[in-house]
Amino acid sequence: MFSRTVFASVVLLARVSLGYKQPIDYLEALEVLGTSYANPASVVDGLILSLLSVDVVGRVDATTTFVGQELNTEYLFGLFLQGADENTTQLIGTPHSVTVHSSVVDPPIAAVSYTSEMVSSTVNMTVPLQIDMFIAFDDDMKIVSYDAILRRIGEFMAYTAPYLAPQIAKEPNTTSTNVTELIELQTATDVCAVSTQYCTSDNQRYESHDMCMSFMTVLPFGKSWQGGMNTGWCRYIHKNMVKYRPEVHCPHIGPTGGDMCIDRDYVQVVDTNPFNKTLLAYNSSYNAADLKGVPASNVVELVKVQTEMVSMETVAFVRLVHLHEMSSPSILQSF
Ligand SMILES: *[C@@H]1O[C@H](CO)[C@@H](O)[C@H](O)[C@H]1NC(C)=O
Ligand SMILES: *[C@@H]1O[C@H](CO)[C@@H](O)[C@H](O)[C@H]1NC(C)=O
Ligand SMILES: *[C@@H]1O[C@H](CO)[C@@H](O)[C@H](O)[C@H]1NC(C)=O
Ligand SMILES: *[C@@H]1O[C@H](CO)[C@@H](O)[C@H](O)[C@H]1NC(C)=O
Ligand SMILES: *[C@@H]1O[C@H](CO)[C@@H](O)[C@H](O)[C@H]1NC(C)=O
Ligand SMILES: *[C@@H]1O[C@H](CO)[C@@H](O)[C@H](O)[C@H]1NC(C)=O
Repeated sequence: MFSRTVFASVVLLARVSLGYKQPIDYLEALEVLGTSYANPASVVDGLILSLLSVDVVGRVDATTTFVGQELNTEYLFGLFLQGADENTTQLIGTPHSVTVHSSVVDPPIAAVSYTSEMVSSTVNMTVPLQIDMFIAFDDDMKIVSYDAILRRIGEFMAYTAPYLAPQIAKEPNTTSTNVTELIELQTATDVCAVSTQYCTSDNQRYESHDMCMSFMTVLPFGKSWQGGMNTGWCRYIHKNMVKYRPEVHCPHIGPTGGDMCIDRDYVQVVDTNPFNKTLLAYNSSYNAADLKGVPASNVVELVKVQTEMVSMETVAFVRLVHLHEMSSPSILQSF
C-alpha cells in the first residue's frame, strides 16, 4: 500500500499547475491494477473502467502475446474470475490479495513487482506468486504495453502440485497417486468439459467428448514455461476464457491450438518486439542535477544517447545471437 500522505503535499502544487501525470498517479494505477487482479469481476462485469487501452499489447513470458483490450481483459481478469467460480480443484489458484512490493516509475513507464496470494479453495491452500511487469501507460493512464514475468512459475507449480494431487484424485475418481498423471487427467477432464459445453455447432473442435479425452490424455501437459505452446497446460489456461467468446477461444483448446497453443521458435520469440509503444523509459537516464546549465536542446540529445546504450542494439545482445548461431549440439548440452 502506498501512503498517499507521503506524496500528497509534494505533488499537489505540481499537479495543479502542470496538468501532466505525476509519479503518484502511476503508483495509484499500479495499485488499482493489483487490486483488480484480486477482484476480477469488477473489471469483467464493467463495474470499473477498463485499465487497458483499446490497442493494448500484453505479453507474459510463460504464455504468449495478447493483442487488444477485449482479449487482454479475458486473459488478465476473466481467466481468474472463471477459475474462482469453479467448484473443482483448479491448477491455477485465485488471486486473493495482490500487493506491490517494489516499483520504479519513470513516466510513462513503470516497472512493478507484485506478490499475489494464490488461493486454492478446495485444498484450503494459499501460496504466493511474484509477478513482475514492465508497463507503458498512455495519456489517459490506460495500459498500452505490458511485459510480464511470472517469477519462479516452475517452482510455484512444483510446490503446489503435490498438495493439489490428493484432492484431484478424489474428483475425477481415479486410483492413481502419480502427481503427473493426476494433473494430466484433471487438465483433460476440465478442458473437455468446457469444450463439450461451449464449443458447439460452428465452434465445435472435437468430434465428441470421448475424442477430446483421447486427444487430451495423450497430449503432454508441458512445462510451466510452455503455457503458450502446443500443450495441455496452454489449453488449460485458455479453457477459462472460452465462455466469454467461444468463437475466439474454442480453437485454442481444440486439436490445432488455433493461433495460441502452437509450436514456437525460442529465438524468434525472444527477437520479436510485439509492442506498439516502447517499454524503454526515455528519461530514465535524465538527472536534472547532473545536467544543470546544459542547454535544453543538448539535454534532449544526451538523453537520447544514453537511452541507446540500453537498447537492443548493444554489443551484448549481438554477441548472444552469434553464440546461438554457432552453438553445436555438444555445446548446448553442456549448459
Ligand atoms: C459451484 O457450487 C455452487 C454452490 O453449490 C453453485 O451455485 C455453482 O453453480 C457451482 N459452480 C459450477 C461452475 O458448477
Ligand atoms: C483453512 O485453513 C485455515 C488456516 O490454517 C483454517 O483456519 C481454516 O479452518 C481452514 N478451513 C478449512 C475449511 O479447512
Ligand atoms: C468411483 O469409482 C468407483 C469404482 O469405479 C465407484 O464404485 C464409485 O462409485 C465412484 N465414485 C464416484 C464419486 O463417482
Ligand atoms: C508418473 O506418470 C508419468 C506419466 O505416466 C510417468 O512418466 C512417471 O514415471 C510416473 N512417475 C512415477 C513415480 O511413477
Ligand atoms: C499493435 O501491435 C499489434 C501486435 O504487434 C498489431 O497486431 C497491431 O496492429 C498494432 N496496433 C497498432 C494500432 O499499431
Ligand atoms: C523527458 O525529459 C525531457 C527533457 O528534460 C522533458 O522535456 C520531457 O517532458 C520528459 N518526458 C517525460 C514523459 O517525463
